Amino acid sequence: MALAREIIKDVYSVGAIDWNRRLFDALILLPDGTSYNSYLVKGSEKVALIDTVDSTMSEVLIENIKEVNIDQIDYIIVNHAEQDHSGTLPRILELFPDAKVLTNPKCKDLLINLLFIPDDKIEVVEDGEEVSLGNKTLKFIYAPWVHWPDTMFTYIVEDKILFTCDFLGSHLATSDLFIEDNIRIYEPAKRYYAEIMMPFRVPHVQRNLKKIRDLDVNIIAASHGPIYNDPSFILDLYDDWASNNVENEVIIPYISMHGSTEEMVRYLTDELIKRGIFVKVFDLTKTDLGDLAMAAVDAATIVVGAPMMLANPHPNVIGPIVLLNALRPKTRFVSLIGSYGWGGRLVESVKELLSNMNVEFIEPVVAKGYPKEEDFRRLDKLADDILKKHKEALKRH
Ligand code: FEO
Repeated sequence: MALAREIIKDVYSVGAIDWNRRLFDALILLPDGTSYNSYLVKGSEKVALIDTVDSTMSEVLIENIKEVNIDQIDYIIVNHAEQDHSGTLPRILELFPDAKVLTNPKCKDLLINLLFIPDDKIEVVEDGEEVSLGNKTLKFIYAPWVHWPDTMFTYIVEDKILFTCDFLGSHLATSDLFIEDNIRIYEPAKRYYAEIMMPFRVPHVQRNLKKIRDLDVNIIAASHGPIYNDPSFILDLYDDWASNNVENEVIIPYISMHGSTEEMVRYLTDELIKRGIFVKVFDLTKTDLGDLAMAAVDAATIVVGAPMMLANPHPNVIGPIVLLNALRPKTRFVSLIGSYGWGGRLVESVKELLSNMNVEFIEPVVAKGYPKEEDFRRLDKLADDILKKHKEALKRH
């Protein structure tokens, strides 16, 4: 069984669809599975393979390559060393021992350390360097930090196809080779951006978007998800997500043990809605953190809802806060609501956990025990403060 599909003349998709994978990096949930895209380029003189697949799917790649019916592979282009793309590289080198790996110096170092690829199998290419396959020319474009320091793009000059590896990809297992429905790809693409690319928004995502805009690109073929034959769709979305513009939105991730924090969350949510603000509430006992990350892409404000537990915020709030701090969304404002029984450093702890985020803290509302009349009045003021801040922030767009 094999499934090699021609994208355009002599350029084939030979990767693997992983319908059943549900977890990546032992952290990220994959509700829609994923794919590990690999591409075979048949030039009139030489053949190149662009990236491989996760080692769990080696046989799929090998069968697909066989289906294209080539005698040899001259070059294996490695755009990025992470194992979901490089995991089958050792097998391909066994099958095609004369093939040379072409990559950049940082990726070379990682391939040697992660996969023990022999030094003499790898040739370093420079940023902007071109390699001829005969009637097709591969051009290598360094694209550091989207999302590792080693990442690069490969461009077929004659065909105007750009292979962006992880950048602009989506975790989506689908039988569609090309995107057939922009609405269906929107959420997987946004989730992917939020989880993988958002920490590198400024300057790396913005810088690499500009690099692509400056090229003449007809097709974008990433290493996860279907191929874009209308690059402007994903480039426009990324321009928006990676911009400094925020939306009139508040997200409220929270935990409540005995209902005090939950009551405050409910009250604040209603007050924000009354003020015309879009709100998304996440009970962290039942939240897919990918949904939270996705909501954080555009929201102007995050309000954390957390009770004290012993000397710290509830542990199930800490993990998601640490994640948001690492993902560094463009959120402008943060506040905190919650309750405590006998003391602790709730506000200070949350501020410390969010130290990576360049945000303004809005006066928190922390109640002793169940919220009382005075606490609800403070929540009214918090809603007013958020509205005021949003009006100022949105005016500056
Ligand atoms: Fe899809 Fe960074 O690997």
